[in-house]
Amino acid sequence: MLKILGTGSYLPEKVVTNDDLSKVYNLDTNDEWIYSHSGIHSRHIAEGTDATASMATKAGKAALESAGVDPLDIALVIVATVSPEYHALPSTACIVQDALGCKNAYAFDLMAACSGFVFGLEQARGYLTLHPDKKALVIGAECLSRICDWTDRGTCILFGDGAGAVVVGQAPEGEGEGAKTYSYLRSDGSGAEMMGRKGGTHDPVVIGAPAKNEWLFMNGRGVFQFAIKTVPMVIEELCKEAGIQVSDIDLIVPHQANMRILDSSAKRLGYPLEKFYSNIETTGNTSGASIPIALDAAVKDGSVKPGMKISFVGFGAGLTYGGLLMTYPYL
Ligand code: UT7
Repeated sequence: MLKILGTGSYLPEKVVTNDDLSKVYNLDTNDEWIYSHSGIHSRHIAEGTDATASMATKAGKAALESAGVDPLDIALVIVATVSPEYHALPSTACIVQDALGCKNAYAFDLMAACSGFVFGLEQARGYLTLHPDKKALVIGAECLSRICDWTDRGTCILFGDGAGAVVVGQAPEGEGEGAKTYSYLRSDGSGAEMMGRKGGTHDPVVIGAPAKNEWLFMNGRGVFQFAIKTVPMVIEELCKEAGIQVSDIDLIVPHQANMRILDSSAKRLGYPLEKFYSNIETTGNTSGASIPIALDAAVKDGSVKPGMKISFVGFGAGLTYGGLLMTYPYL
């Protein structure tokens, strides 16, 4: 029986409000529009040398401390991110592995956008099933402020920076008996053009041409339509597999993309919106970091308690989507 042994998160100190975006950063927008279209009032933005690796390290350290686990006992470090410290290599996970002193671990980045943390947990579950005596650190970390086009009001208003982490390992003998975890994970590459970041090998090199535009692009409406169908579908699939009703889930900890997506999903499922945990108002959308940041907040404020049936659900660029259903903290 696996268990989430501890959680941790980190949000940079600097807070940028919607009013700041219009008044300080001269973006043609306003608090009323952003809040009514997304549920976001403010987001945290990394400053100076703080970036994906340092934020991931701080969240990872907090999770290790809450778990009471020595970094030397970690055998696997996964960092789910689409805003890595360097452009693809070296992996952010290797920098974090070194910074945390996880000297006995192998480390890699996992790129599945906003579903990255859920995919990462499933990878850790698989690895720890093969190696039951080991422990894994799964982190979601994003510094999206560095890849956003701050002149594009249709995308930049949504995103924020931060990191969240969990330590996974064996539960003590006899704990969590009868608990079972279900997963439903999918990708649909036919929607690859809906959201992404150019500047990879996709475009042929033209020697002497200006630098490629590497900012994040997004078909907001398209992603929205995809999300409001996907979130209820994933939850229903998980419940079908587990043989339970949606109403049996005590709390859903979803990817924090847009409050309207959660509202629509709750209506489609006939499930109370209050049981969708949300901190998007003050974090914005932190992509792969949003679920572990929300989970850590939910554990700390008592919204997630041992024995509760909870579900994670992620969706994002790729397209990727999926969820896990577990009896917290047993995985
Ligand atoms: O993690 C997954 C990542 N992505 C998502 O979750 C994105 C999902 N999509 C969304 O959240 C929404 O599509 C947005 C919040 C991004 C946009 O909301 P929308 O209702 O789809 O707006 P829209 O892009 O269709 O734009 C409607 C109008 C346009 O004006 P006109 O052409 O109707 O005059 C935009 O120019 O709103 C305008 N607009 C804005 N106005 C003020 C777009 N962004 C802004 C803005 N402030 N920030």
